Amino acid sequence: MSDIIFSRTSVREYLDKPVEQEKIDKLMRAAMAAPSATNQQPWEFVVVTDTAVIRALGETTPYTKPALGAPLVIVPLSRVGGLRAPDYWQQDLAAATENLLLEAVELGLGAVWMGIAPIDERMAKVSEIIGAPDGLRPFCLISVGYPKGTVTPKDKYDPARVHYNKY
Ligand SMILES: Cc1cc2nc3c(=O)[nH]c(=O)nc-3n(C[C@H](O)[C@H](O)[C@H](O)COP(=O)(O)O)c2cc1C
Repeated sequence: MSDIIFSRTSVREYLDKPVEQEKIDKLMRAAMAAPSATNQQPWEFVVVTDTAVIRALGETTPYTKPALGAPLVIVPLSRVGGLRAPDYWQQDLAAATENLLLEAVELGLGAVWMGIAPIDERMAKVSEIIGAPDGLRPFCLISVGYPKGTVTPKDKYDPARVHYNKY
């Protein structure tokens, strides 16, 4: 049983304290350690610490408000062209995103995954805010910071969801 996996929960409120560059580097290393289809590694990451850009990202949808109080927002994107397994880009980016969320726990940080793809309107808004060129598409927003208050993970384990051999 991994303490890190079971300690992770979505953290949407943060202390007014920046995330150190050394920790940002570790988050990026963890994200890029993810598996990807044909090992295509379609990802790019925009690391946002500029408060005006963070504010704009937080206003992208009614559900991205956690970004408004975050010192750091990471935008994972996928390249569009030149992929060997183009249909798998969202799965690749999801794996990278989960790796990043788990590394955040390891580093004493809290984070939340906020969905952007596959909704075209949201993707277009995020691309415009961060100046992403046509060849890149944003996958989600991840706001990151030192958690404010206590963090209590949910226990979601349900053995009734496990089916052996046939459903
Ligand atoms: C694809 C996806 C999209 C999500 N979008 C949002 C979002 O827009 N805003 C938000 O606050 N949380 C978002 N979440 C976080 C979920 O609400 C959260 O993971 C879920 O409630 C389970 O709680 P836990 O992460 O604490 O275990 C998203 C999670 C996933 C995987």
